[in-house]
Amino acid sequence: MKTVRILSMAGGHTQLASLWLARSHKGVNIFQQFHHSLVICGYSLCLVAMVVISGCEKITNISAPEPNDSTTVLKASDFQPASSCKNCHPKHFDEWSGSMHAYALEDPVFLALRRVGQSQYINALNGLCEGCHSPIGKRSNEIKWGPISAESLSPVTQEGIGCDACHTITSLSRLSNAGFVLSPGTKHGTLRDPQANNVHASTFNDLYQSSEYCGSCHDLVTDAGLGLETVFREWRQSGFQMTGKTCNECHMATYSGTAAVGGPVRTVHDHRFIGADIALISFPNQTDQLAKVTAMLRGALTVSHDIPASVTAGSNLPLRVTLTNDKTGHDVPSGVPFIRQIWVSLIVRDQQGATIYQSGQLDANGDLMDKHSGFPERDQNLFNTQASMLRADSSETGFPWDAAYLTNPSIKPGETRVVDYQVPVPGSASGTLSVEIKLRFRSFPPYVIRSLGLENLLPIPIIDMAELQQTVVIQ
Ligand code: HEC
Ligand code: HEC
Ligand code: HEC
Ligand code: HEC
Ligand code: HEC
Repeated sequence: MKTVRILSMAGGHTQLASLWLARSHKGVNIFQQFHHSLVICGYSLCLVAMVVISGCEKITNISAPEPNDSTTVLKASDFQPASSCKNCHPKHFDEWSGSMHAYALEDPVFLALRRVGQSQYINALNGLCEGCHSPIGKRSNEIKWGPISAESLSPVTQEGIGCDACHTITSLSRLSNAGFVLSPGTKHGTLRDPQANNVHASTFNDLYQSSEYCGSCHDLVTDAGLGLETVFREWRQSGFQMTGKTCNECHMATYSGTAAVGGPVRTVHDHRFIGADIALISFPNQTDQLAKVTAMLRGALTVSHDIPASVTAGSNLPLRVTLTNDKTGHDVPSGVPFIRQIWVSLIVRDQQGATIYQSGQLDANGDLMDKHSGFPERDQNLFNTQASMLRADSSETGFPWDAAYLTNPSIKPGETRVVDYQVPVPGSASGTLSVEIKLRFRSFPPYVIRSLGLENLLPIPIIDMAELQQTVVIQ
């Protein structure tokens, strides 16, 4: 087991306790719902002006991460932007520049959602989002409440999660909600014998090999203990923790190369951080990122099917698709499961090519035909993993800061999910039927993108995780 330094502090313990609570209740904490949408008026003098304007200040369900736990006051100028690492670490720079970490503060969906959150909650969301999406912007207080305008930020803040945001993490204060301690200066990493250079000091820190390190951002928990993003927690409960297979083993592939120009050949780590997502705006290395993400998604589940070789006309053709999560160290999908979609698309055609059955097709807006479709037709047999966030009164919300519950049908590590269909075969059918099945992924449903006023980002690319075809003889 790797040792991980966790500072012992009150906030940390509360958080760990709530992690445990939520774990025993499958992520749904029914005890503290009253926290949710608690609305109080004029509770603080400094908010009086806003209260006058808005009438009321709402309290969100997620507190902004605590300020940096180190005693130093941080300034953006204490950190160096990625561009200053580029000459000596060109490979790391190139890989990182196309990653979702580099995208974190430019991400148009992030920016739009943050805008909505701030408009709904006036001041309460201050600093929450950028706590993980631009740690240096948050800890230096450079990103203020209100729209983020790139021009007013220093380069190191603009770059979201850059080299220094990760490599100056020295320890953790909790395993979620931006619970890392940043101490600018020495670069921490996992080289045990880093060569000296005249720009920075280097030090070995085994925290960087641990999943806990990633978990400090890859777990987002509400004050009531509801896990909204629980990648780390899912991993911790999976068999992958037992076998010591950490995040990096899947997300930072190793290869032989130099850690810095002119340095010795070593085992180094891929900084593309391939997952399920790709940039929706023009971004470095996009084609490469899409190819790698596609491969990652195609390797995430074992997909098999059970389709009879023949069927009698006038009877039902039973079709079974089996999805097993035996390869991924957390739920599939994970991260932000309330906006990710993995669904089964099925089309059965007769010998003339006419469709006799379908599920998982898109409406004219590109949405799946469930309750979110703008059209009346419903797909009764749809299989879709998208989670729903619910308010305390069980109504659905698209906003994490309103959520009191999460119903999450994503496929857990080790779980096998069976999807069954009964296809009525017309009595008049003859010859053969063709069955086409696809398992499809997309990072955002179009209705979410439209609701944020981001139509220009449509269509969202769909990645096929598996596809299969079979012919069935009609008897
Ligand atoms: C003048 C060249 C130079 C510049 C500029 C530079 N580095 Fe390095 N860095 C090195 C060398 C040399 C090593 C050691 C490589 C080795 O031993 O294989 C290194 C090692 C590292 C390590 C590994 C530390 C460890 O102990 O595991 C990290 C992390 C790192 N650098 C980050 C950065 C970051 C972040 C920047 C920009 C803010 C940066 N470096 C800028 C030359 C440089
Ligand atoms: C055994 C391999 C494996 C391990 C271990 C693993 N992952 Fe993943 N991860 C994957 C695969 C495959 C995918 C793509 C399927 C998916 O989206 O779930 C993925 C996707 C993701 C995503 C995108 C999820 C989404 O659907 O949007 C994030 C974020 C992520 N991983 C972070 C982590 C973190 C953090 C850890 C450690 C706590 C971790 N992963 C451990 C294999 C792994
Ligand atoms: C999301 C956090 C994160 C970001 C962003 C990041 N790194 Fe790293 N880096 C790591 C981790 C974690 C390791 C160690 C991986 C391991 O040993 O499993 C590492 C390892 C390294 C190493 C040691 C050699 C190697 O590949 O193992 C260097 C050098 C390095 N990073 C430089 C950089 C530079 C330069 C940037 C920006 C262009 C950067 N990193 C951005 C997390 C990050
Ligand atoms: C400082 C916070 C922070 C740390 C530390 C961090 N991440 Fe991330 N990571 C993020 C954020 C925020 C995003 C999403 C950015 C976006 O898309 O807007 C992300 C995105 C990702 C993605 C892409 C997700 C997708 O849907 O494809 C992967 C994979 C990932 N991180 C893996 C890791 C791993 C592995 C580590 C540990 C070595 C790590 N991260 C450490 C904040 C962090
Ligand atoms: C605890 C750290 C943390 C905080 C706080 C946080 N996020 Fe994130 N966010 C992440 C991580 C990690 C991911 C990547 C998950 C994945 O891709 O699967 C992410 C992904 C996202 C995505 C999806 C990005 C994409 O391109 O797929 C959006 C949108 C987003 N966050 C918006 C927000 C907003 C708005 C806030 C503030 C209300 C916020 N986040 C607060 C860590 C955080």
